[in-house]
Amino acid sequence: MNATAENIQTETRTPLVEMRDISIAFGGIKAVDHASVSLYPGEVVGLLGHNGAGKSTLIKILSGAYPRDGGSIMINGEEANINNPRDAKSYGIETIYQTLALADNVDAAANLFLGRELLTPWGTLDDAAMEAAARKVMGRLNPNFRRFKEPVKALSGGQRQSVAIARAILFNARILIMDEPTAALGPQETAQVGELIKELKKDGIGIFLISHDIHDVFDLADRVTVMKNGQVVGSARTTDVTKDEVLGMIILGKCPPGAVPGPGAARL
Ligand SMILES: Nc1ncnc2c1ncn2[C@@H]1O[C@H](COP(=O)(O)OP(=O)(O)OP(=O)(O)O)[C@@H](O)[C@H]1O
Ligand SMILES: [Mg+2]
Repeated sequence: MNATAENIQTETRTPLVEMRDISIAFGGIKAVDHASVSLYPGEVVGLLGHNGAGKSTLIKILSGAYPRDGGSIMINGEEANINNPRDAKSYGIETIYQTLALADNVDAAANLFLGRELLTPWGTLDDAAMEAAARKVMGRLNPNFRRFKEPVKALSGGQRQSVAIARAILFNARILIMDEPTAALGPQETAQVGELIKELKKDGIGIFLISHDIHDVFDLADRVTVMKNGQVVGSARTTDVTKDEVLGMIILGKCPPGAVPGPGAARL
C-alpha cells in the first residue's frame, strides 16, 4: 500500500503532539534540520536512526531541555510554548532517560515523590500517603511488584524502569518520551517494558520510543520515523513497511513506498 496524502488525510483525530519544521544547530552542525514528527493518543512512535542522527536532540526540544532555532510544537492542536522542562511538564510531557535518574538509596515511593513529596497537615512527610499512592500506581503498571520497602538500587533493571515510568504517570504524563528504555535490559525485562508500554497505550498516553533496536521498535511501535543527519527520512506505519525497508531508510536514507518521505529522503 502506498502511504500518500490520502492516507494522512484519513487521520482525522487531532495529534497529541505535532513538531513542525524543527531545527537546531550546535556551532555549525545542524543537529536537527527541519524535522517534523507527530504522535497520536495511545500511539507509540519509534524514532530510529544511526548515532548522531538527531533523535535525542529532537526529543530534548520537546522536553524543553534545548531551545529550538526554528519550527513549532503543537500540543492537542494548539501551539505550545515550551522553553524549559517545567513548561514541558505543564503540557503533560515527561521524559524517561536511559539513566532513569532514580535515587538509588531510597525506596520506590520516595522515588515517585522525589522533589514533590506529600506532606501531612503538620508539615512532616506523609509516608503512608506516598506509599499508598505508590502501591496504587505500581499495582497497575507492574502487578507483581512487591519490593516497596527496598532501596531501588536492589531492584532489577525492569523493576527500576517501572518505577521511573510510574513516577512519570503519577504526575499525569500524557506524552511520554523514552530514550533507549531497553538498552541495558535482558530479554525478559525488555518484554516487561513492552507490557508496561501496552498498559500506557490503553490509557491514551502517547509514547516516543527512541531505540537502536529495530526489532524492539517493530514489536512495540505503531509508526516509525527515521532520521539521518538531522533530517527526517520518512515516517511509516509498522504494518506498511518491512524491517528491511526500515533498515534501508536508516542506512541509505531510502524511503520505501509504504512510507511518507521527509526532507532527508535520498533522491534516487
Ligand atoms: N549539546 C550538544 N553540543 C554540541 N553538539 C551536540 C550536542 N548534542 C548533540 N550534538 C550533536 O548533534 C548531533 C545529533 O546528536 P543526537 O545526540 O541528537 O543523536 P542521536 O540520534 O540521539 O544519536 P545516538 O543514537 O548516538 O544517541 C550529533 O552530531 C551530535 O554530536
Ligand atoms: Mg541519542
